[in-house]
Amino acid sequence: MTSHQSPIRYTARLVRAVDIILHKRDGGALSREEIRFVVQGATDSTLPDYQTSALLMAIVLRGMTAEETTWLTEAMVDSGVRVDLGDVTGRKVDKHSTGGVGDKTSLVLAPLAAACGVMVPMMSGRGLGHTGGTLDKLEAIPGFRIGLSIEEMKATLARVGCAMVGQTDRIAPADKKLYALRDVTGTVESIPLITASIMSKKIAEGIDALVLDVKSGSGAFMATEADARRLAGSLVSIGNASGVKTEAIVTSMEAPLGRAVGNALEVVECLEVLKGRGPGDVVDVSVELTARMLVLGGVAADRAEGERRARGALASGAGLDRFRQIIEAQGGDPRVVDEYGRLPSAPDRYVVKAPRTGYVTTIDARLVGQASVALGAGRDRVDDRIDPAVGIVLAARPGDRVREGDAVLELHYRDRSRLGAAIALVERSIGIGEERPVLGPLILGQVE
Ligand code: URA
Repeated sequence: MTSHQSPIRYTARLVRAVDIILHKRDGGALSREEIRFVVQGATDSTLPDYQTSALLMAIVLRGMTAEETTWLTEAMVDSGVRVDLGDVTGRKVDKHSTGGVGDKTSLVLAPLAAACGVMVPMMSGRGLGHTGGTLDKLEAIPGFRIGLSIEEMKATLARVGCAMVGQTDRIAPADKKLYALRDVTGTVESIPLITASIMSKKIAEGIDALVLDVKSGSGAFMATEADARRLAGSLVSIGNASGVKTEAIVTSMEAPLGRAVGNALEVVECLEVLKGRGPGDVVDVSVELTARMLVLGGVAADRAEGERRARGALASGAGLDRFRQIIEAQGGDPRVVDEYGRLPSAPDRYVVKAPRTGYVTTIDARLVGQASVALGAGRDRVDDRIDPAVGIVLAARPGDRVREGDAVLELHYRDRSRLGAAIALVERSIGIGEERPVLGPLILGQVE
């Protein structure tokens, strides 16, 4: 018998995996048992990758009901352990972004929220596709250990009010398997799959509350605001239904956030933000998310008070001090906070100049993200090594006036053979027009 015909026995029936795929392909709703069977089979590899992938594609094309999404999330949580943070005092609040370019707010808001009294057990991911990842940024700091055991994470959380770690193999292992397949089979952009992927990890992490930053635009997995709002609604309802108080903001990801894209470059930008000198868009999104974390963490009465406290911790340097403590607690070199030369830096620069005089109308986030990956800041394959030093700095941003020949983007590179592909991408990312563009808001809405 070949594996694609292997019969499954559940609820007193014999069903083949192929029947589950056919059922979803034809628009049917899967049962809880069918979903559990598939998740279990994908995790322990008794289901061949080609069948899992075929089902993922059928889900992308046919969608899932709210009930199926709940069952998928639950099955993915149950594929591993649920962390018990009950012995760490205080409300535990995390933040998660659906992924963007230059999206570095975690490194700002985690220390800020901790400095304001919230416990922040932050479990983050690596860069995916053209988007960056918090773990890759943290690892640009020499010595920083993201691979803490659950016990080490709890001890760090209790000591400095924050731990910034990677997903261990015991947290939602089904997601690790499914995400790796989705990444290479064109099956990332699906509201139920993204919902189950994110929320299974967050529920398993043992937090009390969660603030989500759902990105919308060219650099996001959800290209339209309507889809981003739908994703936000799905994430919030699954979170709340499973006992994690969850809210979301929807933010624009048409252009990269801030001026730096690439791991060490983004660490420097976060340190600048924590010193009160960072770009306004990074500050605004970080403060908005922190304010919500403070309310959910019970240390601010409302969003306005949360914002006042977050801005206060920025201005007083309390957030910066806390980041220094977090770096030290996780084995990193805290001197990077004051000495940026201790961070990796690329040996060469290539400047992309404005082809004509005018206003910068667009800097397409997806193309900049892809160019940054081409330079080596991200991965084409899950097991690729990244170069923490390379990346892209925006010398101009949408809305800026430039003259022909002015620098628009600066590519920080190491390997000349990677440069051509990156230049081709970034040259397409820049739009210059005669009229000053009307820029939309950065924070597009909220879902509570
Ligand atoms: N981030 C995740 O963790 N999962 C997804 O599916 C997309 C973004």
